[in-house]
Amino acid sequence: MATPALPAIPQLSTSSGVRLSKEHFLVAVPVAVVAAAGGFLVSRYLSGRSCKKGPVNTCINKDSPKVVHSFDMEDIGTKAVYCRCWKSKKFPYCDGAHSKHNEETGDNVGPLIIKKRDV
Ligand code: FES
Repeated sequence: MATPALPAIPQLSTSSGVRLSKEHFLVAVPVAVVAAAGGFLVSRYLSGRSCKKGPVNTCINKDSPKVVHSFDMEDIGTKAVYCRCWKSKKFPYCDGAHSKHNEETGDNVGPLIIKKRDV
């Protein structure tokens, strides 16, 4: 008695000559999509964690080897707000330029505020 022939499985050919059955193709496509999405998400996660290297000071006293400011506590008064984003036109004091910088870059920098404790 002859064995009945198996039903023909439709096959798809790629441009490189690889022949895939429809079942293989239906498994391969979702696996490829999940792998690509996973790779994309991992690369986004890793790039977000790394700090970009480069100067933070782009324009203040660039001819000086180091920008340093010193204040006596007695001269500060009751409150002083110092820039930490290096974008202030009144550097070393904060002029609010960090808000625009944060909006443009997605950064989260803000000033250093020193004030006398309320008595
Ligand atoms: S302007 Fe730089 S911290 Fe405010």
